[in-house]
Amino acid sequence: MYYKKRRIKKGPIIILGGIILLIILIIVGVNLYKHYTSDEYKLGEAGYSEKEIKQILKMDPKYINYAINHKYEDDFIALVNEKYFIWKNYDAYIKYIDDVYGDKKVDYNLVVATVNTRSNYKPYTHTEETDMDKGNAILVNKYYHLPSNYAPDDIVEMSNWYSYPDNRIRKNVYNAFIEMFNAAKEDGITLIVNSSYRDHDTQKQIYDDYESNQGKAYADKYAARPDYSEHQTGLALDIFTPGAGMANFEDTEAFRWLQENSYKYGFILRYPKDKEDITGYSYEAWHYRFLGKSLAKKVYDSGLTYDEYYAYYLEK
Ligand code: DAL
Ligand code: ZN
Repeated sequence: MYYKKRRIKKGPIIILGGIILLIILIIVGVNLYKHYTSDEYKLGEAGYSEKEIKQILKMDPKYINYAINHKYEDDFIALVNEKYFIWKNYDAYIKYIDDVYGDKKVDYNLVVATVNTRSNYKPYTHTEETDMDKGNAILVNKYYHLPSNYAPDDIVEMSNWYSYPDNRIRKNVYNAFIEMFNAAKEDGITLIVNSSYRDHDTQKQIYDDYESNQGKAYADKYAARPDYSEHQTGLALDIFTPGAGMANFEDTEAFRWLQENSYKYGFILRYPKDKEDITGYSYEAWHYRFLGKSLAKKVYDSGLTYDEYYAYYLEK
């Protein structure tokens, strides 16, 4: 018998092999492309370590993009992870770190607080008129001032029951103070207002007196310049208890009561201890700023100075 020898057709095998090879090449190519275009790869190229890359990849996309498109900055991750980090201040944080810290260990929390509140600038430089639309929440400090010669139009006289003679304050602040005064009284505490609304000229007189007696640097620690004082807003009160003054008010029950309770009536301690570099003023246990109950509670709960709170939560 004669069997016709079956010939294996090579053509289809070559085609099939070619297709398989092509598929493999495409898969490898796609994977390589994915690798080289991944954020992970680019961050590695920018100089970040594996651990840092993991941290960066958990961030908001705008921070990831920044890290990819800039050269490695060892402050980047620490700054972005700060609770009160503000993106628009990033370059200023870096500049401040370079200017102030050099090779020293950086206190990132302080860097953020300092730059957010403009305290990286010399006081009374980089000033602007404060946003008066903020009402009770307006910020007044060495960088944000009132309109020149500002005077509120709802100032009322305070009774001598609540204050030493010649004190005046805005109506809503007076009502809030009376409520607080009565609550303190029920707890056996007597509060008394020593200073309240001060118009532009009165504030100028106070500042000038400090300056001529003790010099400018001293004056700036204890008194605001006219148009830069919370007293001129009619939203600030200096509160004491009878028999106590600036030197010892901090040691009184009245001060402790205010520390625990003033926010419930809309007032916050405006110039706390150990925050002098942020507020720009020496510690004032007696100076309370009215913000209204809801905002005062938020500021109190945050543990921030009002300058920091405003920068992070309220500034446009
Ligand atoms: N003593 C405060 C800072 C003022 O003069 O307004
Ligand atoms: Zn004051």
